[in-house]
Order: sequence, then structure tokens, then C-alpha cells
Amino acid sequence: MQLHSQVNRIALVFLFCLGLTINSNAQTVKIIRVNTDNTLAKVQPNMWGVFFEDINFGADGGIYAELIKNRSFEFTKPLMGWTIQRKKANEGELLVVNRKDENTANPRYLQVNTENGNFGLTNEGFKGIGVKKGLRYDFSVMYRQQNPGVKLRLQLISADQKVIGEGFLSPEQTGNEWKKQSVSFAATETDAKAKFNIIFEGKGKLDLDMISLFPGDTWKNRPQGLRADMVKLLADIKPGFIRFPGGCIVEGIDLANRYQWKKTIGPIEDRQLIMNRWNVEFANKPAPDYFQSFGLGFFEYFQLAEDIGSDALPILNCGMACQYNTAEVASLDELDPYVQDALDLIEFANGDTNTKWGKKRADLGHPKPFNLKMMGIGNENWGPQYLERLAIFTKAIKAKYPDFKLINSSGTAPDGDRFDLLNTSLRNTKADFIDEHYYRPADWFLKNAGRYDNYPRDGSKVFVGEYAVHADKTFTGSNMNNWQSALASASLMTGLERNADVVQMASYAPLFAHIDAWQWAPDMIWVDNLNSYGTPDYYVQKLFSTNKGTDVVPIKLDGKNIIGQDGLYASAVTDKKTNELIIKISNTTDKLQEINFNLDGKRNFQQKGYADELANSNLSQINSFKNPDAVSPKTTSISIKNKKLNMALKPYSFNVIRIPFSK
Ligand code: AHR
Repeated sequence: MQLHSQVNRIALVFLFCLGLTINSNAQTVKIIRVNTDNTLAKVQPNMWGVFFEDINFGADGGIYAELIKNRSFEFTKPLMGWTIQRKKANEGELLVVNRKDENTANPRYLQVNTENGNFGLTNEGFKGIGVKKGLRYDFSVMYRQQNPGVKLRLQLISADQKVIGEGFLSPEQTGNEWKKQSVSFAATETDAKAKFNIIFEGKGKLDLDMISLFPGDTWKNRPQGLRADMVKLLADIKPGFIRFPGGCIVEGIDLANRYQWKKTIGPIEDRQLIMNRWNVEFANKPAPDYFQSFGLGFFEYFQLAEDIGSDALPILNCGMACQYNTAEVASLDELDPYVQDALDLIEFANGDTNTKWGKKRADLGHPKPFNLKMMGIGNENWGPQYLERLAIFTKAIKAKYPDFKLINSSGTAPDGDRFDLLNTSLRNTKADFIDEHYYRPADWFLKNAGRYDNYPRDGSKVFVGEYAVHADKTFTGSNMNNWQSALASASLMTGLERNADVVQMASYAPLFAHIDAWQWAPDMIWVDNLNSYGTPDYYVQKLFSTNKGTDVVPIKLDGKNIIGQDGLYASAVTDKKTNELIIKISNTTDKLQEINFNLDGKRNFQQKGYADELANSNLSQINSFKNPDAVSPKTTSISIKNKKLNMALKPYSFNVIRIPFSK
């Protein structure tokens, strides 16, 4: 008692020095003990990753920086996104020609005939075109022309109809051969909702396809590459892995609509466009202009993972379409092509350059292997039909690549009959990883912070492949991704970290959403045509990933794991590379909580450390384009004396405390 009041007094002085006032409801000082001598588990270097799916215009219209919508006229409505500008219509001036026998992947092109008068085309972009003053824009087109005659005037048009960038192109005479020509020009204004004009001048006939416009500031300045601001937000998390390409788009509405990686590599004009299944998924969020061009294809995914130092984690279709849609399955005796796709993907990623698929990788400019270590078989598939198909995949893959790790689905939810069947069966078959998904309310996250404390320690490992706090079923966009959801995620994540021997990988989902084009919320990062920002959840993910440490050590309150006593949730790791103790602790109450951290064990701690604090007194606080840092980490220095650290945890706060120690 006496000790408590003395510590209380010290803490009061400490708080006073920090200029903080104590809430009249403040509780007595709690003693939390951390012992850095005991390693409970090793943290995998790739523990905290990201989940990427082309949902919410995350790829086309998002990170894939193409600005022209429907560039190859392959949308169901071939001129969707385009409008014709003319004084008077002339018969046959514009034809959508289909040459499906000659070109199955990209059958349609446009034939423009200006013999009887000039006209133009306008592309609306993906919810407008984001244009930046002074930036270079790279236009390219595939064309053929029997007789020279038609020239192209290219214009960026602002929302208020001004020309804010202009280029010209004079296509040559090519006969029957398709050629590609490019021109670049600079924008004179910034506009988030610009459009793009192609005005045909002169007389003649011209065939056009793959009409493309990219900003000059793509990630690593790669031609026809990715949006740099979005990649940078990702890279800043330092994700351990990237799970791609989804999500439900892996499964497809039916098998024909599934994701097929082989159709996503090589020249972009040969990548066969398909409808994005999120186009029609939600009646209240129709997205009739949502298609997958696969400009961001599997080679680019591997390259992105390599760029930002993440492991690639592809998820492949297992011969089953989405069970919420058609539930179509490939018959077992016709599963071979699906299994072959998986085997060939491993060869594509890792194979020697004299193998068929290794050579394809080298021909695409990457002779070095990508060092692929794992893949998922199926996304959210379930039932005996999944187990049957999975067994066939597993046998074939393990026969050829015994050390290659496979991720298996446990369905769509972390409990219930479907989960129980899969979890039991997969553990019996010694699955490498079981993929658990949870989209649940905040209180579920808090209640489940101890979920893995009693999981079996040997056998199958857990991959929490998709999770996010969903307040309720009414999606209200970025509003839902508030501080309350992030704080609950952080609290649960302390439970994942504490059990890093069982839960070896985790990824929040989904990653990106376009503010004018989303179908699913919440999401980690929001973008418009020019800007992007991280939600409070983004900062939680970043804090975990950039402070992952190497060894889990015990952190206890009254001898017990900290899983909600007085609204506190905590985990601790040491980092053998940086020689630090890293404590993660959330205070989910509306009260300031005074903590005395006792640093037990043999180590000598330095007197100065750092604390990153994410806090907000308003649980509904969100970040936004106007206020992107409303909830973002603030770093302060902290003092350690006689192996003790006194800290006052703000109400509704998540804190990452780093204390250096000598070797
Ligand atoms: O993350 C959004 C969706 O949620 C994924 O596509 C799917 O796997 C899950 O149902």
C-alpha cells in the first residue's frame, strides 16, 4: 500500500513534469513486469504484411497509373468511358471492329474515318484524370494506317474546359502492320478531374488500339508503371509480405471470371481484360465500369514485392468459384490445368532460366529468381469440395517442391461449422498454414486478444490473412475507419505478437480504396486522383511492422497476460539486431493509466528510450484528405531509472515503447 502511494507520488510528479493533468477517475499505478531473459517465441521477419486486391479501384484506376479508362475497348460496352465530340454525325466515321480469330486476347479496336469530316473522342478517365502542373504525361497508342492522312491532337482538358496540356502525333503509313507511337507533353495546371481529348485532324482512315496516358512520375520512373505516392505509403510500412491478387477476385463470380496469372504477364496488349467481380457484387454499390486490364500483373506484383523488400504471397484459384456467387467447381478429373498453373508459377518465380517458365521471367527482364517461398491455394473456399481439391494440389506441389509452404483456407469466418470442419481437417493433414479471416466489431477484437494463447503450439501455423474491425453492416466509407477500430486492431495485434510461434503472418484487409469508386469499407489507405492518406489503422500497421523485433518476451500484469484487465492490452519483444526492448500497449479506457514498467532480467538498460504514441480522446476521429494526420504517431523521449519506467498512458491510446539495452 505504502509502496503504491509512493509510486503514485513519483508518477504524479512525472506527469506534472510532462504537463499532463490527471483525470479524477485515474486509477492506482499498475505494475507491469517485463522479463527480457525469456524468449517465448521467435518473430518471423515477414510477420506483418499487406493484403492487396483490385477492389475499390485499388489497381485499375488506383495504383496502376494508367489514366485512360477502357483503353482497348474491351469493356462490355466497347465505348464506355469515351464520348464522341463532333458537329454532325457521319455514317461509319467510327467503328468498333472485332478480330477475335486473329487476336483472342485483345479482339477489339477502333476504326476512325475522317473522310467526311473531323471529330474527336474524349476519355473521362477513372472518375476523372488527376493532372499535376508541370508534370510530363506520356501518351502512347497502337495504330495502323494504309495511307497517311489522319493526325492526332491530344489535349488534357480541365474540369472547367480549359486546355491544360497538349501534344501532337503524326501516325506513319504502316500498311497492315500495327505500330506503337508515343509522345510526351507537360500539363500547365493541376486538376483532379481533368479529361483527355483526341482530336482527329486531316482526312483518312486510322485503326487505333491501346490508347494510353501515364503520368511521368511513376514509381521508380518505370514506363507505364505504378502510382508512386501509393507505393510509397506501402513501402513505408516495410511489409514483410504482399498477399496478392486478392481476395475474391481470385475466385471470380464463376470459373471463367477467375484470376489466371498466365494471362497477366507479357506485353500489355496481350493481357486479356475481364470484368472485375466487384463490378456487380453489391447492388447498392454498382461499378459498371470496373474491369481488370491486368496492367498490374503477376510480374509487376513480384517486382513490387522485391522493390519494397517484401515476400511475395500469391493466392491461386483452387478450381472453385466464389461460393457466395455461383459456387461453380472444376470437376476433379479436370483439375489438372489449375494445379499446373500453381506448379508453373513456382517455376516462373524461381526456376532456372533454362526452364520454360524461368525463361519467360528472364525474357521479361528478371533473370534472377524471385525466391518465392509460399502460396495460397484458394481464397475463402470451404466445405468438403475444398478439401478434396486442396488434397490434389498439395500432393502435386509437395511432390515437386517439398519445402514450399502452402496456405490453406479456413473459410470466411473465424468460427462456426465451416471453420470447425476445415480447422480440424487441416490440422489433421498437417497443413503448413491455416488462413483465418475476421471482419468483426471492435468488441470482438478486444475479446479475442487472447484467442491464440491456448492454440496448439505445434502443427499448423496460423496466417491471419484478412482482418479489419467492422462496426456494423452499414458501410459509410472512410468514416468507419476511425480511431476506435484502429485501437481495437492494435489491441488484438498484441495477442498475435504474443503468440508469434503460432500466428506467423498477418495482414489487414483491404488495402486501398478510391474515395469516388469504393465498394468495400473500411480500408487501410484512401486515395483520390491526386492524393492518398493512411487511416489510423495504417499507422497501427506501420507501428507494428516497423517495430516487429525478433524475440517475444513475457509481459505480465499480476502474473497474467495483459488481455483486457482495466482495458489494457500488451505484448513485448526484444530486437536482437537493434538491441532494444519494444513494448506495445494499448489503453482502451477513457482514463489516464499510470504504469510502472519493471524491467526484469539480467540486461542493462539505457536511461533514455522513445515512445511512439497514437492517441485521440475521440474514438470516432478519422483521418481525411484535409486532415491526414489527425491520428498519427507522436514520438517522445522517456527516462528509465533502476530498471523502471514510469509512464502515464493517455486515455484511448496505443503506445510503442522502445528501450535500448547494452549487448
Ligand atoms: O477484403 C475484401 C474481401 O473480403 C476479400 O476479397 C475476401 O476474401 C473477403 O471476403
